[in-house]
Order: sequence, then C-alpha cells, then structure tokens
Amino acid sequence: MSGYWSKVVHGLTPYVPGEQPKLPNLVKLNTNESPYGPSRKVLEALRAEVGDTLRLYPDPGSDKLRAAIAKRHGLKPEQVFVGNGSDEVLAHVFLGLLKHDAPVLFPDITYSFYPVYCGLYDIHYQQVPLNPAFEIDVADYLRPNGGIIFPNPNAPTGRLLALQEIERLLKANTSSVVVIDEAYVDFGGVSCVPLIKQHPQLLVTHTLSKSHALAGLRVGYATGHPGLIEALNRVKDSFNSYPLDRFAQAGAAAAMEDDAYFDAMCRKVIDSKARLVADMQGLGFEVLPSAANFIFVRFPGRDGADIAAKLRERSIIVRHFRHPPRISPFMRITIGTDEQCAGLVEALRDIVAAK
Ligand SMILES: Cc1ncc(COP(=O)(O)O)c(C=O)c1O
Repeated sequence: MSGYWSKVVHGLTPYVPGEQPKLPNLVKLNTNESPYGPSRKVLEALRAEVGDTLRLYPDPGSDKLRAAIAKRHGLKPEQVFVGNGSDEVLAHVFLGLLKHDAPVLFPDITYSFYPVYCGLYDIHYQQVPLNPAFEIDVADYLRPNGGIIFPNPNAPTGRLLALQEIERLLKANTSSVVVIDEAYVDFGGVSCVPLIKQHPQLLVTHTLSKSHALAGLRVGYATGHPGLIEALNRVKDSFNSYPLDRFAQAGAAAAMEDDAYFDAMCRKVIDSKARLVADMQGLGFEVLPSAANFIFVRFPGRDGADIAAKLRERSIIVRHFRHPPRISPFMRITIGTDEQCAGLVEALRDIVAAK
C-alpha cells in the first residue's frame, strides 16, 4: 500500500511517543504526567460544558483562555497563542518561525520531537552537543542560525540553564527567533516570560500537560511579541482553525485561575523529587541535577535498558533512550507519588543487588 504514499511520507521519521500501556496496576513513570489529578475547578468547568452547545463550533480564537493565560503572566492576550498540546504549538513554531536558509540550532540531547518537525517541514538543522556535564553552553549557539530552540529545564536531562545565560543569548542573538520550551519550568526553574518585554525575538512555550495535570486535555501555549504570535496564527488558520475544543478551552481557563492548587501540586512533586533523589543516591545511582518533574539517572557499570526492562517485570515503567549512545546508560524517571517512589526504590534495591 505504500505505493499510495506521497514522497514526503516516505521520507518521514516519526516521533515515538512514550508508551501508554492499557494494562492495569502499572506504576507509570515514563511520560512525565502528574501523579495527581487536575484541580476540582477544572473538573467543574468541564462538566459545565456538557450540553447542547456542543453542536456549535468552539471559539476559534480561544479568547477566554488566552485572556486567562495573559493575566497569569502579566501579558496582553495578543501576546498569547494556544494549541492542541504544546506539540502542535511547536509544530507551528517550526514552520512559521524557524524555517529559514540558515539552520535552526538545538542541543544534540533534547526533546526528540524537534528533529521530527524539521523532517516534516524540510527544515535545515544542526544539533549542538551538550557539554560533558550535560549542560547547554550558550557560547556554542553564538553563530549564524535560522533560529534557536531548547527546553529549559532541558529534557530528558532535567538540567536548568540560568536566566542570565538566556539573557546573554538573547543579547547576542537578535536576528533570529529564540524559542525556550518551558514544559517543565514549574518544577524548579525560573520562567523567562518576563524577558519577552525587552526581547521581541523571544518566544516561550508552555504546556498544561505536566504542572497542571492535564495531559489528557491537550493544551499548550506560546507567549511572545504580537508579531511572532501573528505568524503562528497564520499557520494555524492555514491548518485547523479550531484546534481547541470547548472542553479544552473551558478546562484550561479554569486551571489557569486556580493558583492555590497549582502551587500545592508543584510543591508536592518538588518535595517528592528531593526524597527520591536522596534515596537513589543512597542506592549508588548517579542523578543529574533536575529542575523538572523527572530525574535522569544511571547506575555505574549497568545498562539503562537492562534496568528499565527489570523494572518493567515488576510493573514499573520508566523511559530509556538508545540514542544518542551517550545517554544509553541513563533512565528518565517521572516523579510519582511518594508511595510510587518508595516502590521504585525498593525494586531498584533488588535489581542492583542481583547483578
Ligand atoms: C520538552 C517538551 N516539550 C513539549 C512537550 C509536549 O507537551 P504537550 O504536547 O503534552 O503539551 C513535551 C512532552 O513531553 C516535552 O517533553
């Protein structure tokens, strides 16, 4: 049947999402979801959407939601773009802002969807190696480019780049767009959204999938100068004018307004992370410093894939990446509830003891 495919499809290397197993009773620590449910206010807002208005298309501009996001960040609604998960926002960013003659730059170890978008949209890119401590070094990005993108904290390492370093990059790189993907910033980082004011080439993306516990609703957003947002709207309205349904718009707006719940859940995850890191180090694991809701760990002399497979036999799933080979000894483990973390530590204790 592949004879029917377009040439573009033949050339694609699609992203491989983390497994979403259907098996019951798994401890799922592989895709950085929240171990807690969303705010009750979100659930109420979703219930209120069940009714006859579902026969009508949703607001194509997601105006109420954009206003709520703008308020949260001290911005104007025209500085906000929303999409069906930040993956969709990022896809529009690559096509609308990062496709130029010069290559887009991103780290060699980073969110593995970035090269996939480049493949889809035929965008020239260069991967910039992280330094030996798995950090982004801004000096490596000070060269001609068609745009720069990286997550902060980075994924899957969890390592955070200081705000002053992002400022240094922005001061030196003014003729192409710099995208900071803040999917995980709420778990220990400092957002660079306030830098948007002085730096019109800065675009910051966020997701509600992690710190707002709404991976199932599929909402992400970008903030930046209205001129950058306009480019994203032009792409969106050439692709799908209604990317967010009525539930997504209402639920996400309610999430934006419940600061107390958001703060409490982030705090819980951050505290659990500190305990888990201490326990893992106690077992002899090396843990990279993490500002995210996951940790990146290795056990000296042991293969990450092997440990991950043994965890799986005990119904605990974590994420392992084979590429690039430098990260193959590692596993990326999402911070679960304290109970889940304790179960993980017990399983690992057995696994590392039994060579
Ligand atoms: C760095 C990074 N950016 C963006 C995303 C996409 O998030 P979503 O499409 O759920 O908003 C992820 C998801 O895991 C991620 O790790």
